[in-house]
Amino acid sequence: MRRNQKFNLTLKRFMDRGPFLISYLLFLIFLISSCSAPQKPASVENDLIVVGFSQVGSESDWRNANTVSMVEAFSVENGYRLIFDDAQQKQEKQITAIRNFINQAVDYIVLAPITMEGWDTVLTEAKAAGIPVIIVDRMIDTDDPDLFTCWVGSDTRREGDIAVKWMEENLTGPLNIVHLQGNIGSSAQAGRTEGLEAGVQANPDWELVYQAPGDFVQAKGQELMEDILAKEIDFNVIYAENDNMAYGVIEALEAHDIVPGKDASIISFDAAHDALQLVLSGKINLDVECNPLHGPRVRSLIEQLERGETPEKFTYVDEVFFDATNLTEEIITSRGY
Ligand code: AHR
Repeated sequence: MRRNQKFNLTLKRFMDRGPFLISYLLFLIFLISSCSAPQKPASVENDLIVVGFSQVGSESDWRNANTVSMVEAFSVENGYRLIFDDAQQKQEKQITAIRNFINQAVDYIVLAPITMEGWDTVLTEAKAAGIPVIIVDRMIDTDDPDLFTCWVGSDTRREGDIAVKWMEENLTGPLNIVHLQGNIGSSAQAGRTEGLEAGVQANPDWELVYQAPGDFVQAKGQELMEDILAKEIDFNVIYAENDNMAYGVIEALEAHDIVPGKDASIISFDAAHDALQLVLSGKINLDVECNPLHGPRVRSLIEQLERGETPEKFTYVDEVFFDATNLTEEIITSRGY
């Protein structure tokens, strides 16, 4: 066959099968491009700032509000991938979580420490890995302030002092005080306990008639109150170091026909929504605020670090107190927790 005839035949075959070949070519182009080009979710994923957050647990309404605040602040929409770890009230679990964050080479570690002591070794490991650590809520006790970049939380000693001042101004006569403490060794417990103990020292007619840890948990508050009632201890004030323990106390008192807020004054901390309703109904006499909405605060610290700025080493949250004289329904409904 001559060259021209051969070319014409090939062209004719191509024209006959053209539509099929074009579809085939388009399919090949699609396959090659979808294999080599990064998928959109992967590229979005790569741009995210990875934050490992070690949370204490879920012992209280405060803690749950804090978790929600952190999860909302560190969403994908805000540019973050949050690795959340619930330590179920165990420091060993928090230490393991931090080591896992280091192994995963996260960009930032955020730690809500259960207690003050015992962090130096693992934070030295984080420092050696070059990962900034932000402490939130409670404080740690360390001789080396370079082990963490910054801290944000409450001045719990100030909270205790606010409660004592209120008691001095609003309660009269000898005070027989029942003191239910939070997790022993946590800065939230230490600050509120120091405040009360200083108040007892300063007021000769105040006496601590019972003091025990209830770990910030409602069931333990109730159990301790039942124990006090069973022992027939004489009391007229209950200083519960958080709202959940106060809820437990109120349940126990009411079960024994003792009127909370009248037969005994109740002092509490956190000022969560449900507790403020109890202030309004007169069952809690004073609630000192401890604000859990730290998510946006921690995010703002990370944003400063991302911009190459040096955030304040310590940021204390402004907090107030609520009693019958200053609380309204409007305040309660406008609260974020
Ligand atoms: O560290 C903050 C304290 O921890 C809150 O007062 C308490 O409710 C929580 O469990």
